Amino acid sequence: AGTGATAVLLALLAILPPSARGLDRGEFPPGFLFGAATSAYQVEGAYLEDGKGLNNWDVFTHAYPGNVVDGRNADVTDDHYHRYMEDVDIMHKLGVNSYRFSISWARILPSGRLGGVNPAGIAFYNRLITALLQKGIEPFVTLHHFDLPHELETRYGSWLGTGIREEFAYYADVCFHAFGDRVKFWTTFNEPNLFTKFEYMLGAYPPNRCSAPFGPCNSGDSQREPYVAAHNIIMSHAAAVDNYKKNYQVKQGGSIGIVISMKYYEPLTNTTEDILAAQRALAFEIHWFLDPIFFGEYPKEMREMLSSNLPEFTPAEKLLLQDKIGFIGINHYTAIYAKDCISSPCNLKTYEGNAMVFATGERDGVQIGKSTALFGFYDVPEGMELIIKYVSQRYGNTPIYIAENGYSQQSSNNMEHMINDVGRVNYLRGYLSSISSAIRRGANVRGYFVWSLIDNFEWLFGFTVRFGLYHVDLATQKRTPKMSAEWYRDFLTGSELVE
Ligand code: NOJ
Repeated sequence: AGTGATAVLLALLAILPPSARGLDRGEFPPGFLFGAATSAYQVEGAYLEDGKGLNNWDVFTHAYPGNVVDGRNADVTDDHYHRYMEDVDIMHKLGVNSYRFSISWARILPSGRLGGVNPAGIAFYNRLITALLQKGIEPFVTLHHFDLPHELETRYGSWLGTGIREEFAYYADVCFHAFGDRVKFWTTFNEPNLFTKFEYMLGAYPPNRCSAPFGPCNSGDSQREPYVAAHNIIMSHAAAVDNYKKNYQVKQGGSIGIVISMKYYEPLTNTTEDILAAQRALAFEIHWFLDPIFFGEYPKEMREMLSSNLPEFTPAEKLLLQDKIGFIGINHYTAIYAKDCISSPCNLKTYEGNAMVFATGERDGVQIGKSTALFGFYDVPEGMELIIKYVSQRYGNTPIYIAENGYSQQSSNNMEHMINDVGRVNYLRGYLSSISSAIRRGANVRGYFVWSLIDNFEWLFGFTVRFGLYHVDLATQKRTPKMSAEWYRDFLTGSELVE
């Protein structure tokens, strides 16, 4: 009878919405990675120290301070390069068993392959990895998180020249060789689907190219640039993974994947046009990079709309692409409505413009979820389970890591306001419940990382928005736990904060 009652309870739990259930770490599978994430440019600082070369973001933020909302850069940012021990202590206090960070390419190879390896760069990541492992924290390492040596940006237009493929493969090899005995989780790229748009379609991130057939600005550049860049990135991924699998994986026993930025798109209305628009948005966002890796070709939605602007994979490239993924990393923050722009005109100055889709947070004057500080990012916890289900179905239940999920606050000098981040606690609780529900229904999710461990440099928004579990005072570098840090720690150590 006891087992029967348990079964009924479990069945009941599975149908309850996440918000109606408690949240318990015990619901997650054993060995599940719980962590927090950062990236090199956003937290390290020390931009000219110990032989590091300049990278694309160093040069861009210095040349065009007006392009960053508060005119700032990440020359110093959180000074994590010098304070990593304190940051590892913070992680230990939080109770995380993993830390997702990225390696600064320009610290390892200041001017790319030809300039040679910078031993001080290797030494820094060795110190960090050792400190993590001593505290039982598993390193989860990204090779490319938006920054690359400035010299390669100049030489190849970052991702436009095919030569960048060997550069990346070489850089990846140096990292596997130097750190792979201790790093068991690698990802090649963070959000290539997002940065290629910002770099080559919207002209917003360096190298500030603005070209796309249906894009918002048309500088007369080749309309193929975003797709050529993506093609080189996909093949760079394949080359790095090929090398890892052939030369390191068996010996080192790790796995390797890629991280894609994924919104969940809900059709604005139930017209066929909007339903197709939502599918198209998902294809342009997710399938763009994952279909080639899983199926050897670009999605049909993109082939149809972009025709000759979309490169084709040669037989040799298709061969190299085969079996080049161990897990999928999902960065998920928000869900949004998708409206078709093929049959009716709309303002295409949106991120999704290239798919002829207009994204909006509002339907009949009602928002899809609570706003967060970053425009277009809403608190919609159900979106997490929906996106996990979508990815699991399309890509054969491949292991998934939620590589980023987090909540932004507007910066303010009112410390009390920054620390009492109730909105973030609610957000994290909702999204974690949604993940636990997906797992109960069979999804193969293996880990979760909050973006971010500490407040940091939020790209074009500078320090005007804050994502950290810990507040960082930029004048003193003092780290202070927010309410969300306490909540996460309580969740990780077994009990939820009583409200
Ligand atoms: C995505 C990016 O990977 C990260 O660098 C950024 O800070 C967060 N999302 C928040 O926008």
